[in-house]
Amino acid sequence: MKKIPIHNAINDVNLWYGIADSHDTFPYMLCELCDDSISSMVANQTEQREIAITLQECAAENGQGDIYVRVEDTGAGIKNLDACMTYASSAGAETPLNRYGVALKKILATFDPENAHWALFTRTQEEVSNGTYRRVHAPYRTSGMAADICDIQEDPWPGRFDASGTYVSFPCSRALFNTSGKGYPGHDISFITLVQCIREELAVIYAPYLRAGFMINIHIHTAEGKRRSYRVRALEPVWHSTQTPDQGSCILDLGAGPVRVRYHFGEIDNHPSTARYFRKSFSNAGVMVYENGRMIEHHIFSAIWGKDHPQHNGFLAVIELDVSDGGTNDALPPPVPTKDKLFYGDYRLAALYDWIRNHCPRPATYKSSTQTKREVLLCERLAKRFREKYGPQATVLTQMPVYNFIEKSPPLIDIYLFTGSQLILFECKLHVSQEKDVFQLIMYHTGAIHDGLRPDKLVLLAERHSHGTVQLADYLNTCKDTNGENYHIELKRWKDYGL
Ligand SMILES: Nc1ncnc2c1ncn2[C@@H]1O[C@H](COP(=O)(O)OP(=O)(O)OP(=O)(O)O)[C@@H](O)[C@H]1O
Ligand SMILES: [Mg+2]
Repeated sequence: MKKIPIHNAINDVNLWYGIADSHDTFPYMLCELCDDSISSMVANQTEQREIAITLQECAAENGQGDIYVRVEDTGAGIKNLDACMTYASSAGAETPLNRYGVALKKILATFDPENAHWALFTRTQEEVSNGTYRRVHAPYRTSGMAADICDIQEDPWPGRFDASGTYVSFPCSRALFNTSGKGYPGHDISFITLVQCIREELAVIYAPYLRAGFMINIHIHTAEGKRRSYRVRALEPVWHSTQTPDQGSCILDLGAGPVRVRYHFGEIDNHPSTARYFRKSFSNAGVMVYENGRMIEHHIFSAIWGKDHPQHNGFLAVIELDVSDGGTNDALPPPVPTKDKLFYGDYRLAALYDWIRNHCPRPATYKSSTQTKREVLLCERLAKRFREKYGPQATVLTQMPVYNFIEKSPPLIDIYLFTGSQLILFECKLHVSQEKDVFQLIMYHTGAIHDGLRPDKLVLLAERHSHGTVQLADYLNTCKDTNGENYHIELKRWKDYGL
């Protein structure tokens, strides 16, 4: 067989163009640097845990000058510059926040398409003691790059911190900086307004780290020469005070090992000081997912529950996922490389959605029922017993609507019980059950399947069951549901549950 050579060595200029323009907004680009900084501070347990972001607006005749950006941290400094500068190398990864080995290079290519202005300065504790640091600067090359060893007597450290750490600087075009306002109401793209958008983004994205004592400060220099500093403080939802909190934690296996999950489902009130997040609005309702302490995606609704609807405005679920100690990112649903979304075609994400749907089959059910019939009261008592028996892993709902396309008066399941592993639907009758009650269960079951749920068992609960009910239930247990699986109908009595 004859072979012809393929000449496919990477051309550095093409590579630089090719890896640029990946991220959607300026704050998410900044996050790539913050991720690296936090990762270094976490892995090396540095005493000071601070990120200083300096945004300097350059003067321009039309008032829309470029922004000069500097990001400095009190991490341990870059130990392995070779790995750091190698595209797609994971050799430098210190924590799960270092995922793909590409982000630093990608965002430098995005900010500095000419590959002429960026610079990176870094020093370990040892270098601090020696009075030296390393400097790497544009242009980026896949071979022949070198770092300068600088002496602080001749070239003072450019940043503000005295300890070990890393400092990255680059210019950012005004057009790129203006992406900071994406998702915020209004069209004000003044420098100060956009800085507040960036502050809100970081306050939400890094809330778990900020809560844990990490500091992010934004220092601004305006084109008019004004200087100001803003502390980024964790922003949290204001949960509606009259709702029973549905929060807890559990370990889930999404198909690739254990994942620690902390969740909070509920209704929120409008946050008093945000412009975008934690507001009762159509574009915010749904699920926020954090991974390894960092928000990846928010407002996931239709992918889980089908069509969204303004009646769910104010519904929020905060899901924080972490790999258990010693675990790897493999257990988590992966984000896309820009880390601003989860990768939709992933089995771990599908499993997470299934769990969320089972836990919270329909957001609107947070509204409490006002019915007081005796049957309903008995259902409530039984639901309470289930909550006590199965604990926080379980979801127990009464009057749960099904067939989510029916907006007005959908059928209501008497009791919805997800034990954490099994989904059971109940139809409850105060006295003697009738044949039609069995069909009521079948209707719930079909509706639940339509809404994306997979009930394992159907229970008809009554004081006693008519002969016809028993015969019909036996017959239907030999039939298949719309998924092609057998029904599992059980006939129970109130006294079986001690009621
Ligand atoms: N501020 C920093 N402090 C310490 N190490 C850093 C810092 N920034 C980058 N590094 C090192 O450089 C490596 C490459 O960073 P880069 O962001 O390109 O990839 P990554 O973080 O490994 O993965 P990802 O593509 O998911 O961000 C990191 O793994 C880390 O070792
Ligand atoms: Mg990174």
